Amino acid sequence: MKLENDLLLRAARGEAVARPPVWLMRQAGRILPQYRAIRERLSGFKELVETPSLAAEVTVQPVDELGVDAAILFSDILVIPEAMGLRYEMVEKKGPFFPRTITGAEDVRALRAGEAAADELEYVYRAIEETRTLLDGRVPLIGFAGAPWTLLAYMVEGQGSKTFTRARSLLYREPALAHELLEKLTATLVHYLQNKIRSGVHLVQVFDSWAGILSPQLYRDFSLPYLKRICEALPEVPVTLFAKGAWFALRELDQLDCQVIGLDWNHRPQEVRRQLGEARVLQGNLDPCQLFADPAQIRQATAQMLEAFGPRHIANLGHGVYPDTPLEGVKAFVQAVQAHRY
Ligand code: CP3
Repeated sequence: MKLENDLLLRAARGEAVARPPVWLMRQAGRILPQYRAIRERLSGFKELVETPSLAAEVTVQPVDELGVDAAILFSDILVIPEAMGLRYEMVEKKGPFFPRTITGAEDVRALRAGEAAADELEYVYRAIEETRTLLDGRVPLIGFAGAPWTLLAYMVEGQGSKTFTRARSLLYREPALAHELLEKLTATLVHYLQNKIRSGVHLVQVFDSWAGILSPQLYRDFSLPYLKRICEALPEVPVTLFAKGAWFALRELDQLDCQVIGLDWNHRPQEVRRQLGEARVLQGNLDPCQLFADPAQIRQATAQMLEAFGPRHIANLGHGVYPDTPLEGVKAFVQAVQAHRY
C-alpha cells in the first residue's frame, strides 16, 4: 500500500525532502491523556504491551493527537529477554525488574535463542498488523529493539542502575561468557526484527541506551560487532542506530551498514556534520527538557537546531520525551518542524 505521508522513509533513505520529518522517542506513552486513560483501566504496563488491539490503539494516539510523521510501535525492549526465558516485571514509578538474572554460564546456556525465542513474540507481530490496519497508510510504522549490550545490561543487573557495575564488570571478569550471551541476543534480535519487518514495519530503530557507560575499547569489543551484524541482516528497510552517550564511537557507527544515526543532546549538530559529512542522515537531538519552556522559546530552539543540522535530518529529541512534559510544549516542537522549509 502506498503511504500518504512517506517523508520519514524518503528522508531516511537520504532523498531530498521539502522539510524534515518529525517524531518523538517515547511519543506513545504517558504524555498523552488518552494513553493514561487506557492505562488506568488495566492491570499494568505489560497487559498493554501484550494485548495487540490496545498496543495498536496507543501506537496510533500520537499520530492523531500530535500529527507526527511516524508511528512507533508501542512495546518495550525487555520483551526480548522475556522471550529468551527471563521474565520481567514493570514496577510502577520504579521501572523494570527481573526476578531472575544472569549470574553464570548455566543461566546463559538455559536461555532460548534465535528463531525459537523470536517466535515467542506473536503478540508483537499481531500488534504490528493491527497498527497497520488502524494507520491505514497515513504514516510509516517504526519497529524497534534494544541493542545486545543494553539488553545484557538489564539481564545481568536485573534492574536499572546508575553504574551497572555487575553488568559492566562482567565484561572484564568473564568476557567469553559475555560474548556467549551477546551471540544469543544477536541471533534472537535478527529473527525478531526480520519478523517485525515481515509483519509490516517500514523502518527499524535499535536503542543502545547504555552505550555511554562503556569505555571506547569495551564498546568496540562488546557492542559494535553485534550492531554490525544486526544492520547487515536487515537490508529491506532503513535502520537507525541510537547509541546514547556514544560520542566516542561516532565514526565507527558511521561505518556500519545503517541509514540513520540518532544523536543525543550532548552532540553539537555542526560538529557531527563536520565529522560525518553532509550525506549522512542524522536524527535528533533537542534536549527533552527544552519542551518544558514556553512555546515561543521552543520554536526558536527548534529552528536553530534545524538550521544547524541542515538537510538529511530527521527531527527528534535527544532521548525519550519525559512523561511529565507539557503537551503544549510537545505540540510546539512538532509544529515548528512542520513549518520549516529547506
Ligand atoms: O517510543 C515509543 O513511544 C514506543 C514505546 C517504547 C517504550 N519503551 C514504552 C514504555 C519504547 C521505544 C521503549 C524502549 C525502551 N524501554 C528503552 C530504550 C529507550 C530509552 O529510553 O533509552 C529502554 C531502556 C526501556 C526499558 C524501560 N521500559 C524502562 C527503563 C522503563 C521505565 C522508565 C519509565 O519511563 O517509566 C520502561 C517502561 C516503559 N516503556 C514505559 C513506556 C511508555 C512507561 C511505563 C508506563 O506507562 O507505566
